[in-house]
Amino acid sequence: MAYESDLALRLTPYVAGEQPKNVKLIKINTNENPYPPSPRVAEAIAAVAQDSLRLYPDMEASALCEAIARVNGVAPECVFCGNGSDEVLAFAFAAFFSGKKLVAPDVTYSFYPVYSDLFGVDYQTVPLKADFTVDVEGLMQGCPIALANPNAPTGILLAQGEVRKLAAHAKAHDAVLLVDEAYAAFASETAVRLLEEYDNVLITRTFSKSHALAGMRIGYVIGSPRLIAAMRRIRDSFNSYPLDRLAQAAGKAAILDTAYTEDRVHQICRDRDACRDRLKDAGITVLPSATNFLFVKADAEDAAPVQLALRQEGILVRHFKAPRLKPWLRVTVGTTEDMAIVTEKLLKYCKTE
Ligand SMILES: Cc1ncc(COP(=O)(O)O)c(C=O)c1O
Repeated sequence: MAYESDLALRLTPYVAGEQPKNVKLIKINTNENPYPPSPRVAEAIAAVAQDSLRLYPDMEASALCEAIARVNGVAPECVFCGNGSDEVLAFAFAAFFSGKKLVAPDVTYSFYPVYSDLFGVDYQTVPLKADFTVDVEGLMQGCPIALANPNAPTGILLAQGEVRKLAAHAKAHDAVLLVDEAYAAFASETAVRLLEEYDNVLITRTFSKSHALAGMRIGYVIGSPRLIAAMRRIRDSFNSYPLDRLAQAAGKAAILDTAYTEDRVHQICRDRDACRDRLKDAGITVLPSATNFLFVKADAEDAAPVQLALRQEGILVRHFKAPRLKPWLRVTVGTTEDMAIVTEKLLKYCKTE
């Protein structure tokens, strides 16, 4: 006998990037937005804080769902919100993959195997190709399928024609294709239009990156009413109020301020591409990124010493220990000012090919 359940003893939890106490570091290790959220957010939060915090929130987050629907050109009944996209991903794993075999690339968001363990999913991986692109034919050996697009931590975007093939394959087998679009705002394409044809495609999104609200924990899915109904069944078996009143108001204000978001996203993309070009010109390998981070080959064997050297210079980046990822560092795009410093330091410490 033990106090803990077998499940609590068995799980290997997800390990998030470090959240340092030292605020002087250039913190570019967890893909946060380096800029503040829209000024509309603080106004919206202040109004709610004055007014209605003694009351439970709207469990459907209807006003937020409507705003998300409007901006994405979909019907409000196709949107479902949760406490960060980590939570909506968890609900999706429970709703569509529990008790089934799930196929995903071997290098992808590392929460997927954790949720698989938690929800009894038989998690099968298909290696990325040598150039770190997704092996679409390989993924089509099974279903349902989970695909982060753009992928993390590589940053590479899979073209929509290929995503469509996966949607059609999953549909032919009565299965769901989950497309995790945490970074879609930084990419040129999204799978949203696929939803007009495929009722088995579920897209997850987050306010943590493009809308600078990682601290608010807001995520959502877009999918057919049938998929949304299954998400609700899971939510209402766990926590009927995943988004508090402040988060609902903040999210609505942020997503409706499209001009502000576009400006910041463009700035981040410009700084990302400028850093990438400098590194590539110096002979350092960098993967093509459609996200707010760069995946940089810092060493032929193991980038851990480069990560340490950068830390000693006051720059915090992410290193992964999986054998295939060891030579690489994931570098979130910071402010324009910070990226000038970061680029120089990467040039100093990263090995050229
Ligand atoms: C691919 C991917 N999906 C989902 C998430 C989780 O985002 P959230 O902050 O909304 O939980 C992340 C966070 O880094 C991510 O990289």
